[in-house]
Amino acid sequence: MKKINKVIVPVAGLGTRMLPATKAIPKEMLPVLNKPIIQYIVEEAIYAGFKEIILVTHSSKSSIENHFDKSFELEATLEKRVKRGTLKEIQALSKLNVSMQSIRQGEAKGLGHAILCAKQLIGKEPFAVILPDMLISKDKGNAGDSLKEMRLNFEKEEISSVLLGKAKKADISKYGIAQIKKNSKLPGLGLIERMIEKPSIKRAPSNLYAVGRYIFNNDFFKYLSKVKPDKTNEIQLTDAIEHYIKDEKKVSAFALEGNIFDCGDNADYILANIEFAMRDSIMKSKIKNHLKIN
Ligand code: UTP
Repeated sequence: MKKINKVIVPVAGLGTRMLPATKAIPKEMLPVLNKPIIQYIVEEAIYAGFKEIILVTHSSKSSIENHFDKSFELEATLEKRVKRGTLKEIQALSKLNVSMQSIRQGEAKGLGHAILCAKQLIGKEPFAVILPDMLISKDKGNAGDSLKEMRLNFEKEEISSVLLGKAKKADISKYGIAQIKKNSKLPGLGLIERMIEKPSIKRAPSNLYAVGRYIFNNDFFKYLSKVKPDKTNEIQLTDAIEHYIKDEKKVSAFALEGNIFDCGDNADYILANIEFAMRDSIMKSKIKNHLKIN
């Protein structure tokens, strides 16, 4: 049994789709309801059973690390004002059951490059990757159920895996799309035969897209380091997965449980807020009343 403890969370992107909101605030720190997106992501990683989080970060993103650090002044003020509930919540953030390290990506040269930056902190171990702008929402169970299933499967089978969701037709050309070979003996959807980055609807082999949860054996780094930059000068993760599969390395497909929101996109970010708010009965009735009146 091969244990997997480490998860890479790349947060060094520029978030250009969310400008001007993300000029001085990392998009991962934008709130969905009452928590920054990155907090949901860290909670998901902990629930899924990971022990070490490696943030690939950028000089402009120190607020992400600060969010999980102890804040003496704030805690003292909350204590003085007898805000016990909030104090507990704030204290819990710096006492999470996970270690957090970070490494810099000096220049945003793409997701594949960001993952490569974490290589020295991963060492020879297998690792997971979570894209922090892709927020999972589940009515029942936990948002980390899918990643947990992938982790448990990896520890048994030692096969890399990718989590897939169903893309709407209009969105297919925005994502990395998978072609699957069904295999009833394997857990999940089967093995991935091909991954194509942003195909046209015509060229797309399916509507199944990578939603931003991955588990890789350590030899994946070798393939990632060989990927050439694309026409936008970025090193794409999907290209490395495609080379990995072509070299007869197995990659399993898992099906996303729940809904997912791309919080790096304005409309999806608003929808995420609505979905999370509708779970709170007071907020739900306020939203409903507002929409009725206007
Ligand atoms: P995205 O492409 O969605 O993020 O990358 P972006 O580049 O920040 O956003 P836009 O397209 O300009 O609006 C997915 C994840 O990978 C990280 C991002 O921070 C994001 O969480 N990323 C991307 C890096 O860490 N480094 C990069 O060079 C690119």
